[in-house]
Amino acid sequence: MNTYPRPTRRQFVKLFAFGVASSVLSGRGLHEMIIGEAHAADSANGLLTLKLSTFTALQSANSSIRLALNSFNPTAGFATPYYPILVSRSTGNQFYALSAQCTHAGCVVPTFGSPCPCHGSMYNIDGTVAFGPAPSALTSYPITYDGDNLLTIQVPGLGYSITGAPIETAQGSRFQLTFPTQSGLSYEILFQENIGSAGSAVSFANSSDGTANLTAIAGTGGNLTVYVPRSTAKGFYTVNVKVTQA
Ligand code: FES
Repeated sequence: MNTYPRPTRRQFVKLFAFGVASSVLSGRGLHEMIIGEAHAADSANGLLTLKLSTFTALQSANSSIRLALNSFNPTAGFATPYYPILVSRSTGNQFYALSAQCTHAGCVVPTFGSPCPCHGSMYNIDGTVAFGPAPSALTSYPITYDGDNLLTIQVPGLGYSITGAPIETAQGSRFQLTFPTQSGLSYEILFQENIGSAGSAVSFANSSDGTANLTAIAGTGGNLTVYVPRSTAKGFYTVNVKVTQA
């Protein structure tokens, strides 16, 4: 466990913007711009997978990053639908995944080493309280490290089930995917030709005969149906929630 002295007033928030425009301008595929992917593991839980090599801050011990599935206000006591997730690295390749919801009054806790912006609570790298007024540790999520480059975090409440079927449209063969969504989250579709091969983001339409030029779609709180042009006869589609570093 690492402890810190009382905080100074300094706070820093690192913002990292993602978007279709930036990926197009840089000539890189959208998938390469995505730092993390969250997908439904089952109807209750989601799995957030991260490549360690993507994050300079996680290359050494006693550091952390903050990931957001939706926008949030650091000093408001609610972040809907999800609070950001702090991913921290301690010594001995020990990793922690913690909800950034301060246990005092619900403000959003910054990365390890900085105090809560509302009343100055400080947490240790494992989420326990270094000093209050926070009354208890940050909520932790199960996290596994494959010993190489992959972190997998189980996020409760992010699960959803997907139904899909190939259909014929005026625009040719498409794959129709229907899934429940949450407001505030942004969804993208990944395609893998084989299980085990790297997935890549694909464009899609929001109507069966519409132009397939969408790369992300905002959740509505209800079911969404999207239509992906089929370039091959076989493969796997994944509906992912976009994740940003914030
Ligand atoms: S909400 Fe974090 S210290 Fe009060």
